[in-house]
Amino acid sequence: MIKKGIILAGGMGTRMSPLTKAVNKQLLPIYDKPLIFYPLSILMLAKIKDILIIVNKGQLDQYKKIIPNGKNLGINITYKEQPSPKGLPDAFILGEKFIGKSNVALILGDNFFYGQNLTEKLLNCTKLTSGAKVLLHKVTKPELYGVAKVDAKNKIKDIKEKPKKFLSDLAITGLYFFDNKVVKYAKNLKPSKRGEIEIVDLLNKYKKTNNLYADFIGRGGAWLDTGSIEDFYKTSAFVSAIENRQGLKIACLEEIAFLNKWVSKKEINNSVKFYGRCEYSNYLKRLL
Ligand code: DAU
Repeated sequence: MIKKGIILAGGMGTRMSPLTKAVNKQLLPIYDKPLIFYPLSILMLAKIKDILIIVNKGQLDQYKKIIPNGKNLGINITYKEQPSPKGLPDAFILGEKFIGKSNVALILGDNFFYGQNLTEKLLNCTKLTSGAKVLLHKVTKPELYGVAKVDAKNKIKDIKEKPKKFLSDLAITGLYFFDNKVVKYAKNLKPSKRGEIEIVDLLNKYKKTNNLYADFIGRGGAWLDTGSIEDFYKTSAFVSAIENRQGLKIACLEEIAFLNKWVSKKEINNSVKFYGRCEYSNYLKRLL
């Protein structure tokens, strides 16, 4: 069972400057809440309570203002600063102590997932005891992502980061599940031509030993991009449409904690006080 998770929420956010000059990208709004709420909600739906959030050097205070420690969510949040963006597998080098002897999930701080049966799928992924698992999703622009080619039995045959030549239209989403070997593998990675250690190189280490598995989000699920300003607007519009139609929030952390029975009414009331008079607090009050 995977009970620990890392959110990689650093990066320079240069593609979104000037918005990201003073504020980390993951703290910018997707409709009615900061982007970071969405990947955090995914780990919580996967019943992961022990969470490390990796942030940019100098941006820790910004995060602690909005998610101080997880107490009101019934979870345990620790933070670590990444001195510079060295690549996604750096999460496991920085997180070595946090991971200890456990298996671990990694979610990229800018990834948005939503869909039917998602919780069930996530809980299934956390059952991983050895190897690594990635979630794939069909996209129209695979050249923008890590992609995987699979055979008829859904076994991964090849993976490439942002391939210029078409390999497959299955993107590797930013949610990964690893056994404990990931720390050792990450430490042995050499930087690529662009000077970063690469997630595909890490996944290839598992592929070589026949230990890389794939699952699919499927047609009923959404995996949306938040790589550009335009993506922020589109994802915000998606959240707004669903929330206003149903009257239910996506990624309301307190609601997930409450439904998971990790908190009682007392903590929800604390959160209402914490957020102050706002629409989000009104939603929490309605929940009670
Ligand atoms: O979103 C899925 C894609 O994410 C995958 O398909 C790709 O295989 C994977 O490489 C990654 O591609 P991106 O180009 O989106 O990665 P990016 O460098 O934008 O980083 C993703 C997030 O991780 C972003 O929120 C910033 C954060 N980050 C990134 C790096 C390299 C860090 O916190 N530290 C880092 O060192």
